[in-house]
Amino acid sequence: MTTNTQTTHSHWSSRFAFILAATGSAVGLGNIWKFPYITGENGGGAFVVVYLACVLLIGIPIMIAETMLGRRGQRNPIETMEMLTEEAQADKNWHYLGWMGVIAGVLILSYYSVIAGWASAYVLKAFTGNFFDADATAIQTLFENFVASPMQLIFWHSLFMSATMWIVARGVNNGLEKSVRFLIPSLFVLLILLVGYAMTTDSYQRGLDFMFNLDFSKLTRTSVLTAMGHAFFTLSLGMGAIMVYGAYLPKNVSIAKTAYLVAAADTVVALLAGVAIFPLVFEHGLHPASGAGLIFQTLPIAFGNMTGGWFIGILFFVLLVFAALSSSISLIEPAVAWLVENKNFSREKACVWTGLGTWFLGLGTVFSFNIWKDVLFFERTIFQLLDYITSNLMLPIGGFCIAVFAGWIMKREHTESELEMPCKPSYTLWRALIRYVAPASIFLVFLHVIGVL
Ligand code: TRP
Repeated sequence: MTTNTQTTHSHWSSRFAFILAATGSAVGLGNIWKFPYITGENGGGAFVVVYLACVLLIGIPIMIAETMLGRRGQRNPIETMEMLTEEAQADKNWHYLGWMGVIAGVLILSYYSVIAGWASAYVLKAFTGNFFDADATAIQTLFENFVASPMQLIFWHSLFMSATMWIVARGVNNGLEKSVRFLIPSLFVLLILLVGYAMTTDSYQRGLDFMFNLDFSKLTRTSVLTAMGHAFFTLSLGMGAIMVYGAYLPKNVSIAKTAYLVAAADTVVALLAGVAIFPLVFEHGLHPASGAGLIFQTLPIAFGNMTGGWFIGILFFVLLVFAALSSSISLIEPAVAWLVENKNFSREKACVWTGLGTWFLGLGTVFSFNIWKDVLFFERTIFQLLDYITSNLMLPIGGFCIAVFAGWIMKREHTESELEMPCKPSYTLWRALIRYVAPASIFLVFLHVIGVL
């Protein structure tokens, strides 16, 4: 993608193109891999409710704001922030927001690629019939042996990282985004099938209860922060990914409506994944808090035992890899766009360098599951630490700044004309959310986690 896109598409198809790109970015490992396992680790229902509230009150208004900043700036996040700061005659330091986003993207991709590598490896495992008739113990052993091997993880991580950088370098993002058109609906259908399978188990109700019970005593201080961080992560907010995509959005498109659609699709996919997985967890005596391997230890049991499971298993992991690819390109695009537009790198060169750097950082995550399993910083492995710093700190802080910038720094007439909400009350509501509710909520959650509240 280039920044000076003056699209000649019709209104509808351009809006649709943006929806595809943004949905492709939003729906990914966050929904299918991360949401279930962190829900399991944080006690279920109450966590889900906090997450949903964060999507509604913080995520959607910020998605609207971030898209709007991108469209007004028309550049990579760093330059967009520079240009908008100038327009609003605000403090120059605001452009550090763009910087933080670029760094957060690279850090997230470093572990995202490792997990996407697992999903790729599972395509092969599904294909070679590894899940056939397997019980929970066999599936668990399969997973444990797999992650115990640094070489295997490095191989798949390298493969996924190369695929991502190849797509970004060739600028074939477009093709990938178009494929989101059938990717997301297919993923949706498969998830429904898996929910159907979960319904046939005796533990279906128990799984549902776990996901929707409202036992707030299970929420720790960190759980609340994790739920909020995940709202940012799953919607791809707070680091400039959506800002980059917003830059390609034609002027006459309603930003708000597209944001609702993207957020709704993203949330439905995550909830379906949870409903498909938790019954299996209880049915097979697994633990909801098994951590990052949760989907790899549960879904294969279903594939191994359901009719047509061989094919469905392959298809599922293939779709998951593609969903991950359409997310990973948006994690690295801000860094690449900046090198190309500011440092005069060719697109290829920018991709090689950012790709190599991210790949190298990813080794930390690879080793977190084997040789450095016991190397802990603040009681966390390197992978957990990276995830904590990015999802729970950098994205919410980025989101906070975006909200403050859009609500308080930009001139009202600029945001109003950029958003062109169909009716006045919806603009007023957005403005109230972005000025008060979103920043205050983020701030309160931070106070809560450090124990002040
Ligand atoms: N939202 C994606 C997912 O759920 C991950 C992702 C893509 C992301 N781009 C992002 C997360 C930007 C944070 C910021 O899998």
